[in-house]
Amino acid sequence: MNDKILKIKQVALEAIREAKDREALRDVENEYFSRKAGVLTEMMKSIKDLSVEEKKKVGQLANETKQEIEKAIVEKNYELSEEDWANSLAVEKIDLTAPVLPHAERGHLHPVSIVQKELEEFFSSMGFIIADGPELESDYFNFSSLNIPADHPARDSQDTFYIKNHPDWVMRTHTSSLQVRSMQKYGVPLRVIMPGKCYRNEATDARHEHTFYQLEGLVINEAITMAHMKGVLEAVAKHLYGPETQVRLRPKFYPFVEPGVNGEVTCFLCDGAGCKVCKNTGWMEIFGAGMIHQSVLKEGGIDPEKYQGFAFGFGLTRLVMLKYGIEDARILQSGDLRFIKQF
Ligand code: DAH
Repeated sequence: MNDKILKIKQVALEAIREAKDREALRDVENEYFSRKAGVLTEMMKSIKDLSVEEKKKVGQLANETKQEIEKAIVEKNYELSEEDWANSLAVEKIDLTAPVLPHAERGHLHPVSIVQKELEEFFSSMGFIIADGPELESDYFNFSSLNIPADHPARDSQDTFYIKNHPDWVMRTHTSSLQVRSMQKYGVPLRVIMPGKCYRNEATDARHEHTFYQLEGLVINEAITMAHMKGVLEAVAKHLYGPETQVRLRPKFYPFVEPGVNGEVTCFLCDGAGCKVCKNTGWMEIFGAGMIHQSVLKEGGIDPEKYQGFAFGFGLTRLVMLKYGIEDARILQSGDLRFIKQF
């Protein structure tokens, strides 16, 4: 029996040494250790049937042999994997003398982002902070906190997208949804702008898109008046359209301001003479604004007896269209590279 074991060992070690790659080594391993008919498995099984005395004699040698073969396989496997690695490195080596690829094309900002960033810088220089907020908004912040209860007709012009099974959630229809949020978060005195994306369920055409951008602003402190409001709107208008630009305010109803105004600027295309873009009026409607309604201040946790403030909002998308002479609002979100590459 001992001779048989020694013979097995000799043949096995020889086969391991000769294995050319890891697959060949795996075959050898199977040949000896396979549970079904492995040479060593069979040998160990046959030892079980020997008498106790014989087992003693043979057992130790058999176990040592098995361990030795196992060890030889592990070592050979290590040696072969080192070789594999070295071979793959040789294949993958980097050729430092290869010519450089031409520069990949770099992206750039979308025109809406360009105008937004530019205005953020301008308002920052006047001491405004810049705030952001959720586009999926509660009915409360988008409507009811702004004096627009469930049955208010002002909701008709601001139909939007709703979320199934969540009747109190809306895609915000204006950045005014951040008015009460920012009052609650930052308190008074407050000077903040809130640019961002808004949504409305529109039958889209050249002037209406379901997704568009607005920029909202709030100033709240003791003794803030409409004169401050006009001053800020004028500063913005002159910044956008040049130092000669004038602003006029005409009454307009918005539920969350009292009084509310419609802010118009002299048309920068015809300098007020009248043209197609300003519909021959010489004025372009840019802002909605007004003195913040007392009940809105209260919702924001601010004492209306002590503080006043003004709010304004304008369509960033509209400003971008005017600035670049874009005639169809829908092109801005179209993803059309022929359009976007012009900026
Ligand atoms: N949220 C209004 C809209 O989308 C615009 C607006 C009007 C904002 C008056 C204001 C405001 O802050 O005071 O039509």
